Amino acid sequence: MMLRRILSSVDSQFLNALKLQLGGSSYLSSRSVSSLPEAVGLDSDRSDEENGEMDWDNLGFALTPTDDMYVMKCSRNGYFTHGKLSRYGNIELSPSAGVLNYGQGLFEGLKAYRRAKGSGFLLFRPKENAKRMQVGAERMCMPAPSVDQFAHAVEQTVLANKRWVPPSGKGSLYIRPLLLGSGAILGVAPAPEYTFVVYATPVGTYFKEGMAPINLLIEHVTHRASPGGTGGVKTIANYAPVLQAQMSAKSRGFSDVLYLDSVNKRYLEEASSCNLFIVKGGVISTPYSNGTILPGVTRKSIIELSRNVGYQVSERLVSIDDLREADEVFCTGTAVVVTPVSSVTYQGHSYRYKTGEETVTKKLYEALTKIQMGLVEDKLGWTVNIND
Ligand code: COI
Repeated sequence: MMLRRILSSVDSQFLNALKLQLGGSSYLSSRSVSSLPEAVGLDSDRSDEENGEMDWDNLGFALTPTDDMYVMKCSRNGYFTHGKLSRYGNIELSPSAGVLNYGQGLFEGLKAYRRAKGSGFLLFRPKENAKRMQVGAERMCMPAPSVDQFAHAVEQTVLANKRWVPPSGKGSLYIRPLLLGSGAILGVAPAPEYTFVVYATPVGTYFKEGMAPINLLIEHVTHRASPGGTGGVKTIANYAPVLQAQMSAKSRGFSDVLYLDSVNKRYLEEASSCNLFIVKGGVISTPYSNGTILPGVTRKSIIELSRNVGYQVSERLVSIDDLREADEVFCTGTAVVVTPVSSVTYQGHSYRYKTGEETVTKKLYEALTKIQMGLVEDKLGWTVNIND
C-alpha cells in the first residue's frame, strides 16, 4: 500500500521533483544531484580528482564506486516503468524483501570498451545478457525488463559513467545489471515488487594472476548445481554456496575450483565464475549446457568464433579422463574473458597443459578481444556502438 501511494504521488510530481521515492528508498535524478550533495542515503558526489587518481595500469577486479546507476521498478502489473539514472549509492530494502529472505534475485555481467580510435564505446552482445535475464526471471518467478529496456539501461549507465571507462587496452567498464525481488513478503512466494538496477565499475583482469595461466582444483564433495536446480540461470543464489570450496582452494594456492556433476561425480561442469573448455588434437570441447551449467555469453561467442575460423567444436559430456588427456584447458566468462589454465589438480594428481603464444587458447583470446575492443572489423555484428 505504502509503495503504491508513494509511486502514484511520484507519478504526478516526478517532473518537478528532484527525488524519486521508491519503496521507501531515495533515488536522485543524476542531472539534479550535483546541487543536492546532501542527498539522503547516498554516497557523496565523486570528484574528478578521484577519477584522475585511477591507476589504469593496475586494474584488477575490484569495486570502484562510480557516478550513476540506473533504477527501474515493477509492481504487480509485471511492467517495468520509469527507469531513471540516479547517483550510485546504497539502496534501501525492506528487511522482508524477497531477495533478502528467499534469494529471489538474478544478476548479469557485461563489458563496455573505450574505442582505440575516435570517440565512443563498444558494448559486447548486450541483448544476449538481456535474453538470459529473461530466461532466469522465468525460472525465478520474476518479471523481467524487455530486451530494449535492458539495452537502454545499460547504454545510459555507460554514458553516465563514461569517465570511468578505462583507456583502450587497459581494461573495460564492467556493467552489473541486477534484478531483485524488492517487495516485502513473509511466506514463501514471489515478491510483490521488483527492482532492476544497473551499476558499473572499471575493471582489468579477474584473477590475481593477471593475464598469466591459472591453476584449478577439482572439487568432489561440494557441487555447484544439481539437475532440476538453478545452475543454468544466473541467480545470485548460485554463488554463496561455492564460497567455502573456493576459499579453501585459494588458501591452498589454487585460483579457482572446478565443479563436477552431482550425479556421476565425473563430468566437468564449470568453475565458480566461468565456463570451461578443453582442446585435444585441435578439437575444442566444452561441457554441454543441460540446466546445470551457465550458458555463458563468452562461452557461446567462443563456440561460434571457433567454428567460424574452422575448428571443430563439440558440446558434450567432458569427463575427468578427457581432462587428463587434454592438450590445453581454458576458461571463459565476461569477467575472465578467455583465461588459460596451466594445471588442474584432482585427488592429489596435477595435470599440466600447454599455454603461451602458439596455443589455440591464445588465438581465440586474440580473436575475441580484438572484436570486443573494436580493433578488427566486427563481421559477426556482436558489438553495439555507444556514441559519446
Ligand atoms: C561474469 O563473468 O560476468 C560473471 O558473472 C562472473 C562473476 C561471478 C564474477
